[in-house]
Amino acid sequence: MEKYETHTHDVIVIGAGGAGLRAAIESSAQGASTALICKSLLGKAHTVMAEGGVAAALANVDTKDNWETHFKDTMKGGKMLNNWQMALYHAQEAPERVRELEYWGALFDRTKEGRINQRAFGGHTWKRLAHVGDRTGLEMIRTLQEKGIHSGIDVYMECTITHLIKDGDRETGAFGYWRESGKFVLFKANAIILATGGVGKAYKYTSNSWEYTGDGHSMAYEAGAELIDMEFIQFHPTGMVWPPSVRGILVTEAVRGEGGILTNSEGERFMEKYDPERMELSTRDVVARSIYTEVEQGRGSPHGGAFLDVSHRGADYVKRKLPSMYHQFMEFADIDITKGPMEVFPTTHYVMGGVKVEGDTCSSTVPGLFAAGEVAGGMHGANRLGGNSLSDLLVFGKRAGEGAAAYASGKSHAQVSAELVEGFANELREPFNNTQGENPYTIHQDLQDVMQLYIGVFRTEENIQTGIDKIEVLKERAKTLKIEGSVMFNPGWHLCRDLKSMLIVSEALARCALARKESRGAHSRVDYPESDDEVLGKLNSIVSFKDGAMDVATRPIVEMPEELSKLFTEDK
Ligand code: FUM
Repeated sequence: MEKYETHTHDVIVIGAGGAGLRAAIESSAQGASTALICKSLLGKAHTVMAEGGVAAALANVDTKDNWETHFKDTMKGGKMLNNWQMALYHAQEAPERVRELEYWGALFDRTKEGRINQRAFGGHTWKRLAHVGDRTGLEMIRTLQEKGIHSGIDVYMECTITHLIKDGDRETGAFGYWRESGKFVLFKANAIILATGGVGKAYKYTSNSWEYTGDGHSMAYEAGAELIDMEFIQFHPTGMVWPPSVRGILVTEAVRGEGGILTNSEGERFMEKYDPERMELSTRDVVARSIYTEVEQGRGSPHGGAFLDVSHRGADYVKRKLPSMYHQFMEFADIDITKGPMEVFPTTHYVMGGVKVEGDTCSSTVPGLFAAGEVAGGMHGANRLGGNSLSDLLVFGKRAGEGAAAYASGKSHAQVSAELVEGFANELREPFNNTQGENPYTIHQDLQDVMQLYIGVFRTEENIQTGIDKIEVLKERAKTLKIEGSVMFNPGWHLCRDLKSMLIVSEALARCALARKESRGAHSRVDYPESDDEVLGKLNSIVSFKDGAMDVATRPIVEMPEELSKLFTEDK
């Protein structure tokens, strides 16, 4: 086969959003030779789409806040399906991780007293979100990037990893290609951290950009790792609906955090019907269902959404607190949000399900394979609270970096067989060699329609089964793809591999959704509208690759120790 580059490191981190950067910084700090591999350019990551803030019980604004309340809010928001150990580490360590970020140069908004300012977000008892206007994720990425590039990390940009490599049971490397040249590249490593984010691109309307095709989920699955609770995908309640070219782009929850009000075509503040106590600051699953219902029942805005209005806060306030939203609506929709409402509708934003990991080290069920951030599952249970993704990636990015560096220490690199590499290369080149076959874009579009229609906000047995049948047909069609042109920067060719990942993750999502015959968090079954707290609420869904097929099973959740479960009884 053609020549390919080989790079050797102790630890490689695949994915360079917040989780990947934080993991690489830590791994390098532990003395491990560390590579950070990004599919895109460094800094271009979905982390920036967590705009409104990072959740941490700093208690700067509401002094009663503490880790116990953050822990309880997270567990309740996740409908108690969360990995409690992760939720505990997260609540306890988030404040320290945020302060550390500030020490590294992040410029958070300040209170009058000069402390990091915090704002309200759905499902959080207190004002808990440290923020930088509505550009929090961007500032975090900027800071981590700055810290990262001075930490001795080797950064490989515009490089797509397509296969993980094992020696026996243990992960020993990864294979992929340079997006620009199409040339292959091999990374040898003793530990691999997946930080590849989510799979929003499997849906038609999403806040995610092109990178988010479930690569880490699918590679982990193929490597034999377990995935957990894949039925839970978050539809952020507020994405743009108009014009069509920007449909799905995020409208930050900070708009509601700063007092934004949702109304329907009849001028009714409809959240009064769905959650009179928390109103617009209910959890995302509830607000998304409420908007969806209003539109379904004929009370939608002209372009099929709900109205979201924050103009009553005054132009200066809105421009100061929500500068990106102001520009986004001005530039894309010619709407001045300081003068009138936006139109919004749920958009696919985040996958709660992911690679099953241990909370302390982020190790998966495959030795040497770690996962952090959105690609890891368990932390958020059935529904994630806004702002908990940014704190998650800081807390577990650090833990994964430590865990992987410790695991890699003292191990020698395994040999990678030439036949294996050649097999990967042949598989990747196949769409160029096929004389007949389908265009990957057509299948991708069909998959997005299927996921949007059948595995959406509301689900039924019939719909999900139809979705699964259609995914099966798409899998067959995707077996023979055909692509024209050169290997040099060929997005059609890149999509061939991404499509495979999206199909695996979509199937996992749909099969888990079919199996969970109850409604819980973001998984809303019209045919099973109640939550079954006694039986199904105590079971996690587990997906694995068995005997050449996808296996979906359940496993009892790990019970919380008495001193923690007491926190919830005290509440009652
Ligand atoms: O609405 C937002 O700003 C998104 C935050 C998040 O997903 O955590």
